[in-house]
Amino acid sequence: MAIRQTHTIGVIAGDGIGREVIPAGVAAIEKATRGGAVSVSFTELPWGCEYYLQHQRMMDEDGFDRLSTFDAIYLGALGAPAVSDGVSAGLILAIRQRFDQYVNLRPMRLLPGLSSPLANRGPGDIDMVCVRENSEGEYSGAGGRIHRGTPHEVAQQTAVFTRHGIERILRYGFELAAKRPRTTLASATKSNALTHSMVMWDDIAELVRKDYPGVEYRKYHVDALAARMVTHPQTLDVIVASNLFGDILTDIGSAISGSLGIAPGANINPGRQYPSMFEPIHGSAPDIAGRGIANPIGAIWAGALMLDHLGHRELHDRVVGAIERVVSGGEIRTPDLGGTATTKQLADAIVNEI
Ligand code: NAI
Ligand code: MG
Repeated sequence: MAIRQTHTIGVIAGDGIGREVIPAGVAAIEKATRGGAVSVSFTELPWGCEYYLQHQRMMDEDGFDRLSTFDAIYLGALGAPAVSDGVSAGLILAIRQRFDQYVNLRPMRLLPGLSSPLANRGPGDIDMVCVRENSEGEYSGAGGRIHRGTPHEVAQQTAVFTRHGIERILRYGFELAAKRPRTTLASATKSNALTHSMVMWDDIAELVRKDYPGVEYRKYHVDALAARMVTHPQTLDVIVASNLFGDILTDIGSAISGSLGIAPGANINPGRQYPSMFEPIHGSAPDIAGRGIANPIGAIWAGALMLDHLGHRELHDRVVGAIERVVSGGEIRTPDLGGTATTKQLADAIVNEI
């Protein structure tokens, strides 16, 4: 009898629509792996804002130790109106740093059958992937706030850029660009205003590019790059960006691809010393939470990225292929894509297609 390979996944569905879309992703992964050589075992971790309101912490005290035992982490969204976003987002940032998930990989692609809010743009025009630095930069967490509530209150939020951190994210971007059809890498900078950190970023890019002569390197100030994503998306392929810049650019990328609800993200520890984490890029969407109408595609696609990371490219392709066929069929769409389908109807259609 063949031995099945089992992967263990820690699941933090989290808050709001996170709890509505993660079951869809779990169902898709279970369908894709059913009867095959690979099996996936999910362990639900009841952490997030509700947990915080009961325990004054976002996860168990030994949360990191528990998370470190899994092969990967599958996250929905964290955030709720009753809890400060600094607290809820703090857990995501802490996991990314603690497990050195220094690459935040975010594909941004207009799927056939969807219409972009940009006029006259088709799937051939919008096919990018952002390689976002995920461990330092503007989101290092360094800083503080003193004299709270007084007229002389001060807040300081310090960006931390290291040569090591910049070099490794640029290399990851160049490696990826070398494998993609357009072999083009756009580096998001702002060296005209951030004259220390971003000048160092550009200097390191000049060194790293020499190792990748086959990749066309271009640098753009991030504001101009944001505009270019809207005016000339077909000229962009791999985008390498700092933590804050990548955060902002990928919301633009997902919006021009049809909806924030379809975009997936992978927080990767390339050296595999720690588990990587996979999530839709959207948040908990309190404005639509509880109504069963959230788009599950971002979560399902993130699940496919997880299968790819675990070594199963063919299962990734199966799941993404099913998403593409259902979307291009055009019948079953959630309200964010202009339809009337529920999360469950869209998820069921994708699972059946798998
Ligand atoms: P959001 O992504 O939750 O929502 C922005 C808009 O997009 C809302 O109008 C929402 O209805 C819509 N939207 C998002 N995902 C959708 C989906 N799958 N289907 C249909 N529509 C969708 O961002 P927002 O409103 O800025 O943040 C809400 C909460 O989520 C906050 O507490 C925030 O801190 C948290 N958040 C958490 C993230 C995470 O867990 N990784 C990421 C972003 C925000
Ligand atoms: Mg964001």
